[in-house]
Amino acid sequence: MSNHYKTIKLKKKQHITWITLNRPDKLNAINAVMLQELSEALDTIEENTNARCVIITGKGEKAFSAGADLTELRKLTPETAAEFSMKGQQVFTKLETFSKHVVAAINGYALGGGLELALACDFRIAADSAELGCPEIKLGLIPAWGGTQRLPRTVGLSNARQLIMLGDKVQADEALMMGLVDKVVLQKELEAETRAFAQRLCECSPAALKHAKCAVNSLTKACFDSGLKKERDFFALLFATKDTKERIEASRSCFIAAKTYKQ
Ligand code: COA
Repeated sequence: MSNHYKTIKLKKKQHITWITLNRPDKLNAINAVMLQELSEALDTIEENTNARCVIITGKGEKAFSAGADLTELRKLTPETAAEFSMKGQQVFTKLETFSKHVVAAINGYALGGGLELALACDFRIAADSAELGCPEIKLGLIPAWGGTQRLPRTVGLSNARQLIMLGDKVQADEALMMGLVDKVVLQKELEAETRAFAQRLCECSPAALKHAKCAVNSLTKACFDSGLKKERDFFALLFATKDTKERIEASRSCFIAAKTYKQ
């Protein structure tokens, strides 16, 4: 299996392909290159008739993904923000409608775009150390890669409102209670447990599973596309506000301040 990628790694074992987000020094933050590479990797796996299931995880023990890359986010204007949102929405929709089953193995932080990526997977298995959330509101933003649409469909309106509008993080056990993840396992057992889960999917009839996935997804399809458009438009509009600009800048100062403090 080709591994020419800069930001992800692909590994295939029998019917299961692992995609590992591979920017551990940036907590696997998702930049434009990673989005593109994810999209290309899915196309490659799609062509492989032997592949039955995909597992997505993050490199290292600290993060599945800490979300959209803040260095890229800081440069957005209302015009480029709409494109940024559209690109992420397209890749995550490709993932959601992918013909093979996709399981997220959440090995640490799944924040912002990282959580949106996990939400586009069919199943989420979390390490007990995982923390999940949508911190966008703290930057004067909203989720822009399908989170405003997939989160309420996954955990219900009330839980989704709390996560999106307050920006609080939840621990793995709370995430399990609200249906945000399907299973919580010990960090050291995450890989084996996820593999065993994926193995069960591989043993099901591929055709029946494919149709089951398609039928379940169609339940929410009707107003999903208009919801995504709204999400994109609002996200772009926020980049025209002084408040959002100031909050994003302040997040950079927080990083610098935290680092100075640690030294
Ligand atoms: N984009 C780009 N870089 C990120 C990032 C992101 N979303 N999240 C973390 N990083 C980088 C940090 O800048 C740092 O890199 P550096 O050492 O080269 O400066 C590295 O990852 C480690 O992060 P750090 O903040 O030092 O780790 P921590 O353990 O103190 O805190 C978090 C972990 C997840 C709480 C914190 O990194 C965080 O809040 N990240 C932003 C999350 C976010 O707002 N995501 C949504 C974006 S819409």
